[in-house]
Amino acid sequence: MQKIVFATNNPHKLEEVRRMAQGKLEILSLADIGCHEDIPETADTLEGNALIKARYVSDRYGLDCFADDTGLMTDALGGAPGVLSARYAGPGHDSAANMALLLRNMEGKEDRSARFVTVIALVRGGETTLFEGRVEGTILTEPSGEGGFGYDPIFAPAETGIAFAAMTPEAKNAISHRGRATRKLMEHLLGRP
Ligand code: IMP
Repeated sequence: MQKIVFATNNPHKLEEVRRMAQGKLEILSLADIGCHEDIPETADTLEGNALIKARYVSDRYGLDCFADDTGLMTDALGGAPGVLSARYAGPGHDSAANMALLLRNMEGKEDRSARFVTVIALVRGGETTLFEGRVEGTILTEPSGEGGFGYDPIFAPAETGIAFAAMTPEAKNAISHRGRATRKLMEHLLGRP
């Protein structure tokens, strides 16, 4: 079976992506290949950060690899948190702090439109390919739902109007930014189903 590294240790992401590979690809995490370094994400675009991570693994470990970078962009805040989504509340802060800050900054804003964008960079056999997925929606006024991770409790995709965190993993995957980008990647790697 084709083996490929997904440059992440996020268990939620690994589960989402492994589910989509439907057992047709062996997806290894960074821990699986013994990579325990913190790969610096120093670019100021999603594409740049995804490329840094995928190239890091392919250069040092000689393995085919893909990496993703995701941002949540709000119109009312000029695209924030955007590429800084993971560090919005400052270094060392968790998702709860990031969400709390975003809710605070969105207080009183009439325009609550936002989108999640994922860029996946694939480095395979020395060739680099980029895939993008996005989902439009709104920032809720308070968290809801028990599932998902990150900003899922406060983002409602337009398709359902309820928080990602209140949807099943399958329903989220079907329309999410990463789901859409990952399906493009899978089609590229495996061909159309
Ligand atoms: P990363 O680029 O995947 O590390 O994500 C950047 C930020 O967006 C982190 O704070 C993540 O928690 C958040 N994030 C990424 N994907 C999702 C998602 O599917 N739902 C909610 N938050 C996400």
